[in-house]
Amino acid sequence: MLDKNGFNEWAAAYDKSIADAEKEGRYPFAGYSTVLAEVRKLIKDPRGVQILDIGIGTGKFSASLYAEGARICGLDFSAAMLEKAKAAMPDGEFHLFDFNSGLPHELKERTFDHIISAYAFHHLDDGGKASFLQSLVGNVKPSGKIIIADVAFNTAEDLAACREQSGKKWDDDEIYMVAEKMLPLLQGSGLAAEYRQISGCAGILLLH
Ligand SMILES: C[S@@+](CC[C@H](N)C(=O)[O-])C[C@H]1O[C@@H](n2cnc3c(N)ncnc32)[C@H](O)[C@@H]1O
Repeated sequence: MLDKNGFNEWAAAYDKSIADAEKEGRYPFAGYSTVLAEVRKLIKDPRGVQILDIGIGTGKFSASLYAEGARICGLDFSAAMLEKAKAAMPDGEFHLFDFNSGLPHELKERTFDHIISAYAFHHLDDGGKASFLQSLVGNVKPSGKIIIADVAFNTAEDLAACREQSGKKWDDDEIYMVAEKMLPLLQGSGLAAEYRQISGCAGILLLH
């Protein structure tokens, strides 16, 4: 699993390498564009809407919402990734922060129309994912959504099958969400939670 230095080194080549990896049609980026297109459909009209993007990276996804008039607030622990995101979204707001510690002080009391995160939550273990998500419920407006897109599976069997198929490409350090384990951990969060598998190795967790 990459640390912030690894992501700093990857930032310049990130967008191209994701596009190349997606073309291979395999784990971990199979269906990446489709996953993000499905996230986009969940945000009806982005004009004037405040969106917090956790692990925003180069802004590959949020930049399209920004172009449609959304107000983007991005969080990432990689300064180089944030530089790219700032270049793509000059009027955006950006925070250099490690989400292992939740949200930075200045965002803790803020509420957003929606909170999104793409391909970043696998850096947290299951308990960390659940407690971070529970804490984020207070940062989303009552009509809002928390949308987590990532490498993820419906069942532990599905994850095991993908690991088997992926062989040496599989990254044992990353902790992928398994919906049958995660959904019960989110009960009582105050929001309804559902999971949808989009590609063979990725899906969307929606809290609304
Ligand atoms: C695979 S990239 C995804 C970037 C972007 N969301 C996308 O879909 O293209 C993961 C991003 O999460 C960030 N990240 C990973 N762990 C993090 C952490 N603990 N705190 C903050 N950012 C983190 C990385 O720096 C990187 O920009």
